[in-house]
Amino acid sequence: MIYTNKIENPADANGWTRAYLDSILVEMRLLDSCVPDTSCTIFGRKFATPVMTAAFSHLDRMHEGGMITMAQGAAEAHALNWAGMGSAEELEGILGACPETIKIIKPYMDRDLVREKLQHAYKAGAIAVGMDIDHSFNRKGQHDVVLGMEMAPVSLDELKSFVAETPLPFVVKGVLSVQDALKCREAGVSGILVSHHHGMIPYGVPPLMILPEIAKAVGADMDVFVDCHIDTGADTFKALALGAKAVCVGRAVLDDFGKNGAEGVRAYINAMTDGLREMMAKTGAADLASIDPGVLHTLV
Ligand SMILES: Cc1cc2nc3c(=O)[nH]c(=O)nc-3n(C[C@H](O)[C@H](O)[C@H](O)COP(=O)(O)O)c2cc1C
Repeated sequence: MIYTNKIENPADANGWTRAYLDSILVEMRLLDSCVPDTSCTIFGRKFATPVMTAAFSHLDRMHEGGMITMAQGAAEAHALNWAGMGSAEELEGILGACPETIKIIKPYMDRDLVREKLQHAYKAGAIAVGMDIDHSFNRKGQHDVVLGMEMAPVSLDELKSFVAETPLPFVVKGVLSVQDALKCREAGVSGILVSHHHGMIPYGVPPLMILPEIAKAVGADMDVFVDCHIDTGADTFKALALGAKAVCVGRAVLDDFGKNGAEGVRAYINAMTDGLREMMAKTGAADLASIDPGVLHTLV
């Protein structure tokens, strides 16, 4: 049973996503427990926390320095940073502030532009690249247009060619089915982000509801990340217990970012990490690999 009190519009995937997260309850396991280690390794790099920034764009209006300031906050929290849509110059600034960054490229219809951006991300020093495949269509089921640039859905063959285009690990953002996850694996993708991009599809299934199926289907072949309403340390704990290697925090960090810039981001990620550590300590998980999905319960 899902806790549905807060759902105002059932077609809005965000309401179900929050309600689903809040419906997952946790038992305590205290005997033999200890202060846990929250560090994790992603694409060969070690981080203090599995909490990462979401792939953002257009943050200039919220705080001076925009995405570069966001990246600085991630670096200060020893967290992995993701970068969304933006220019080559902006990406260089982001990488200057936080070299541990994954660059997400839009599914531009102009595939030469996609290739150009893939190459630039590699040369500029990103640790991985990827694509938000969920931004192909608009609310009318037509090709989306973002800042005057037309998007187009990606075929499996095209995905294979993008993966082959770069020596970097390739991440697909916006996977919300076992079918797409298996196609990503077939294409040689290194990681997937289970996400509905804060409500890209009406009635979108909560990422945590489908995460265990996806994680089981792809096995150890790809890293599985998750976002959408992962707002707290407890949300992070539930996501990791259900099969995610790490999570991205999106809209929840933006208030603190807007008020306090990089310091706000650092403090928010640290607070989420503290909350995660508390959940791990009180469920007997000494490190991230020891988090046991058996501690989770759902309302009946
Ligand atoms: C201001 C803003 C800008 C975003 N820009 C991008 C982008 O350029 N590329 C992308 O893949 N996702 C983008 N996203 C989506 C986020 O990466 C994330 O998938 C989404 O917000 C869901 O996470 P949340 O519920 O924690 O916000 C953006 C989100 C926000 C709020």
